[in-house]
Parts: sequence; structure tokens; C-alpha cells
Amino acid sequence: MKVVSTIQELERERKMLSSPVGFVPTMGFLHEGHLSLVRGAGKESKSVVVSIFVNPTQFGPEEDLASYPRDVERDLKLLENEGVNLVFTPSAEEIYPPGYCTWVEVEGITHILEGASRQGHFRGVATVVLKLLNIVQPDRTYFGQKDAQQAVVIQRMVSDLNLDTEIVVLPTLREPDGLAMSSRNIYLSPPERKVALCIFDSLRLARELYQGGERSTEIICHKMTDLMLSQPQVKLDYVGIVHPQTLKKMVEVKPGALVLVAAWVGKVRLIDNILI
Ligand code: PAF
Repeated sequence: MKVVSTIQELERERKMLSSPVGFVPTMGFLHEGHLSLVRGAGKESKSVVVSIFVNPTQFGPEEDLASYPRDVERDLKLLENEGVNLVFTPSAEEIYPPGYCTWVEVEGITHILEGASRQGHFRGVATVVLKLLNIVQPDRTYFGQKDAQQAVVIQRMVSDLNLDTEIVVLPTLREPDGLAMSSRNIYLSPPERKVALCIFDSLRLARELYQGGERSTEIICHKMTDLMLSQPQVKLDYVGIVHPQTLKKMVEVKPGALVLVAAWVGKVRLIDNILI
């Protein structure tokens, strides 16, 4: 496994990889969710490239950029065990050199849900992903369903800008008790970890209500909210039931609907979703 940190080295090593090339962009501190993307890429491609880059431009000034968990040495061991061919670990200056001033705005679907709470987040995500795609030139690029809105935004950008990579979205990986895997779970204290389960419980409740015949978004969201707010440590950011591609609100829940939650458990902001 080659590990490179400059664009020049990456481009040189990339030329030597057998095609098709699968690419998994990450911010590191890898868990089984990331590794499932790496395995998915490995199954469908001859070579796998992974990037590890905590992208500063997708964090707001009040967000956890400085404390975002990092352990590149451990990440590299995990990736080596998965048989990854090439890892890109650029510095912030490599991606955003002095004078950098070009940004990607995906309009219409980035100001709602995560975008409403995290101003500028998707501008940072779309910009870095476009740059990484231009640098790595992958045949397929892998994202997790856990960041459902991110996956929709990237698919839109790739389609709108005629980028030559296929976006593959793989299912959310969960702990045995249902908590969605996330690098931020490490911040949860043991009692908060238990409380955090109410997020997935609320999504399960939405599915049960739907299966029981309930179609009103308002009623389902209301019951999900009640369930989560029965835990005093939880502060709800949003609950939404939307169309899975347009992210438009649904008044009546239809098959394929995307149900999303963002909530604070103590100081940790968690997101999760299911497709009904
Ligand atoms: O999902 C993430 O880890 C990040 O948003 C991504 C796609 C690597 C861009 O920085």
C-alpha cells in the first residue's frame, strides 16, 4: 500500500493502478462503516484508493474541526489489512493553497436539513469532493447512506457537472444495538451512548407507524419527536420526512421516503436516517 500526501505523487501513483479504480473519500478515524465502503470498492474494482483529509471548509466556526478525532497511524493499518492500493493524506495547504478562491455551490438542496443547521457545510463538502475526484479520477466513488443528504448533493453535482465517475451509496452500518456507526460516537459518555439509541428508536418507530398504516408526516414526526424528547439529555435539531432524491418535504409519506433525524446528545451532534 502506497501512502502519499502531495497531488503530484498521487497522480504519479494513480497512473500505475489497474482499472477500474474505486475511491473512498474519508475524514479518517475509520470505523467499520468506512471499511464496508472500502470492501465494497474492493469487490467491484481492481484497485482501491482512499483519501484521509479532515476538510476544514466543511466545518463552521463553532464546530468541532479542532477536536475532530484523528488517528492516521491506526487508519493506515486498517487500510493495509483491507488490501487498499493507495492512500492520499494531503495537508490543508495541499488542497487549499494560498490564494485559493473557487467554490462549488449545489443550489436548492443544500440550504435545508443539515444545510440549515450547518451554514456553508455542503459548499465545503462539494468543493473538496470535486477536487478529490479531479485528482484521483476514479471509475466509482463510494459514500455511506448515513450521510444521506451528502450523498444526494454529490450525486447532483456529479450529474450536473458531467463528472465521469459512478457514485455508489452503501447502507449505514450499525452497532449491534442499532446506533449508526460514526467517528463522533467516541465523544459519547457511556450514559450518553445509551441515550443516543433513542435516535434509531425514533426511526424504527416511524417505520412501524408507516407499516401500521399511518401516512401523515406531521403525526409521525410528532411521535418521533416525543420519543426523543422523553430523554432530557437530547436536544432535537430536526426530524424530516422527504423525497429521497429531491429532499422535498412529503405531506403524505410515500414508499421510498427518507426519514432523517439530527439531534444533540449532550455536546455530541448525531445524525441518522432510514428509507421507508
Ligand atoms: O463524509 C465525509 O467523511 C466527508 O464529508 C467527505 C465526503 C470525506 C468530504 O470531506
